[in-house]
Amino acid sequence: MTSSRSSIHGEWSSRLAFVLAATGSAVGLGNIWKFPYITGENGGGAFVLVYLLCIACIGIPIMMAEVMLGRRGRQSPINTMRTLASEMGQSRYWCYLGWLGMLAGFLILSYYSVIAGWALAYVFRTGSGVFVNVTADGAASIFGRFIADPEKLLAWHTLFIVMTMFVVSRGVTQGLEKAVRLLMPALFVLLIILVGYAMNLGEFSQGIHFLFDFDFSRLTADSVLTAMGHAFFTLSLGMGAIMIYGSYLPKDASIAKTSITVALMDTVVALLAGMAIFPLVFANALEPGAGPGLIFQTLPIVFGHMPAGTFFGTLFFILLVFAAWTSAISLIEPTVAWLVENRGHSRIYAATVAGIITWLMGLLTVFSFNIGEDIKPLAFIAKFADSTMFDLLDYLTSNIMLPLGGLLMAIFVGWLMKKETSMAELDIHDHLHVGYRVWLFLVKFIAPLAVIIVFLEVTGIIDALASLF
Ligand code: PFF
Repeated sequence: MTSSRSSIHGEWSSRLAFVLAATGSAVGLGNIWKFPYITGENGGGAFVLVYLLCIACIGIPIMMAEVMLGRRGRQSPINTMRTLASEMGQSRYWCYLGWLGMLAGFLILSYYSVIAGWALAYVFRTGSGVFVNVTADGAASIFGRFIADPEKLLAWHTLFIVMTMFVVSRGVTQGLEKAVRLLMPALFVLLIILVGYAMNLGEFSQGIHFLFDFDFSRLTADSVLTAMGHAFFTLSLGMGAIMIYGSYLPKDASIAKTSITVALMDTVVALLAGMAIFPLVFANALEPGAGPGLIFQTLPIVFGHMPAGTFFGTLFFILLVFAAWTSAISLIEPTVAWLVENRGHSRIYAATVAGIITWLMGLLTVFSFNIGEDIKPLAFIAKFADSTMFDLLDYLTSNIMLPLGGLLMAIFVGWLMKKETSMAELDIHDHLHVGYRVWLFLVKFIAPLAVIIVFLEVTGIIDALASLF
């Protein structure tokens, strides 16, 4: 039997609304800003292959598990985990999984909103026509001057936080559902147009080779961790965003179909972004490993040279802001839902408190690109000697907290939750159902083992053990 609980926060109006909202959460800066630059930093094709494998074997099964937990518990992640653990006769400490997610949400949003602020600024920059006929050096220097100015970054960061909290305070259903329905297809179409331009203006085949040729010699344990961490990040997994969206999912919607659809759309958007960006990187002798500034230095070149580029460029950055906006909302929704459930606060109050905390934490990232760029908090560890505060926040959340959260969810659903419960949620009535068995195998064994092995490999524990024999 599916659970008869209902959420006090309401429910999506349909299965489609959930798919759109979850896609809105998944498709964001991770696809268009982060995926291209980490692919560049990690050498291309082999990294992309590992990333795709992680999406298929770890991401999709864990997404189904996370939606399932949410729909079963129908509350904020902290309360959902507490309720389900007690129902399954497990320790109440499972609620700390919800707390871990809440912390990860704050940390991610603190830097996410700074980068989304860059996108906001670029809407106006592109709109003003500064990129018309711009050269690669010109675009790089405009970007360099922008991030060197902490006041500007702070202003855009503030605006983005206000926008996010505004929507969250009004509830996620009406406004957001409608916005996503319109914006996601538009983003998709625009990306395809950009790929078309990159084909003409750029070194398309070199870009495609870079993305899809597997050179395993360039793959290190750390790049495997980055690929896995990014699979969690891009699908919004491991911190409760998908869990809370699942808690608003109507009873009769198929968890498997919706999860697979969301993961596919997310992946296509990331690959399209890569196909738009790398041909230009090579055509303009730019560095694929340029880091977080990559799209802000490459895409303006296309816009500067294509007909009606000012118009398309402005539109592109507007859509990027919308994509980031629909993701940011899901980063803070678990906290807001919890404040409403446990403290009885209004959504407006809860969103304001959460917004102020995130804004303050965002200062760490703002300063990482200018006055604080020389602050390297973990300089005493060789691996992090050059990492700024922004780098560390990103590493901690994507590569550690999200995979850890996902690992714990997989263990809970795969090992501790009764089979009848997961079968009921997936609407499966036969123990021998092939799809169910494949999913259960992935959740029980493959996903947890993969996460553990990557963790051990990166920390050097596997090497240390191997040297004993
Ligand atoms: N998936 C979003 C992106 O790719 O930009 C980022 C994100 C949203 C991560 C929500 C985690 C999350 F819970």
